[in-house]
Amino acid sequence: MQDEQRPAVRPENTTPASWDERYRGGRRFSQHPNGVLLAEVADLPAGRALDVGAGEGADARWLARRGWEVTAVDFSGVALARAAADAEELEGADVAGRVRWVRQDLTVSPPPAGVFDLVSAQYFPLHRSSGPGPSPALRGLLDAVAPGGTLLVVGHELTELVSRLHDVDPEDYDQPADVARMLDDGWEVLVDETLPRTAPAPPGSHHTHDTVLRARRR
Ligand SMILES: C[S@@+](CC[C@H](N)C(=O)[O-])C[C@H]1O[C@@H](n2cnc3c(N)ncnc32)[C@H](O)[C@@H]1O
Repeated sequence: MQDEQRPAVRPENTTPASWDERYRGGRRFSQHPNGVLLAEVADLPAGRALDVGAGEGADARWLARRGWEVTAVDFSGVALARAAADAEELEGADVAGRVRWVRQDLTVSPPPAGVFDLVSAQYFPLHRSSGPGPSPALRGLLDAVAPGGTLLVVGHELTELVSRLHDVDPEDYDQPADVARMLDDGWEVLVDETLPRTAPAPPGSHHTHDTVLRARRR
């Protein structure tokens, strides 16, 4: 596991320390990969994938099982330690060896540009830019997609999110549809929809719908 993390100032509920604390409190998400990932990526040939905010690693492990070389990035060391241990325990050495766990704050340092055939951001908080274009973090994710590669951004349906959150304003975050609006002619938007979830929501939450952007860099 690498450590490319540097401190950043932001609201208390979105710091690496606050996420570490949540993960320390127990398992946050299921050991199963996200339903949208399964549906949208099953038809893609394996290549290099970036799992953005990989959390406890179920998506990264699923991609690796399908032959993808995965860079799984998260700024929570607690989540990544659990993810790496799960991969060792649940997968064979071949599969586990295809995932590189990277501790990195994506608002501070971007991933490498132009190298990933898939960039998957599942429920990753994308703080909205103060200006009209993408924030630096989102710019980094868009730039990370290789020519011909796929961008997959998945969020919780907004009205469900608003009714459940008390300490976070969803308006402060770019949703998949906002990202779709920022894509220029260099992209083909394949999916920009709200879809019913095919997998159970994380324990303690009751999300029934996802917002999904799937786009291909031309
Ligand atoms: C809602 S969780 C989603 C985890 C996983 N993608 C899933 O679907 O189960 C968001 C994850 O993003 C990570 N995260 C949030 N902001 C980040 C940042 N700026 N850089 C890297 N990781 C971040 C958190 O630590 C957390 O693991």
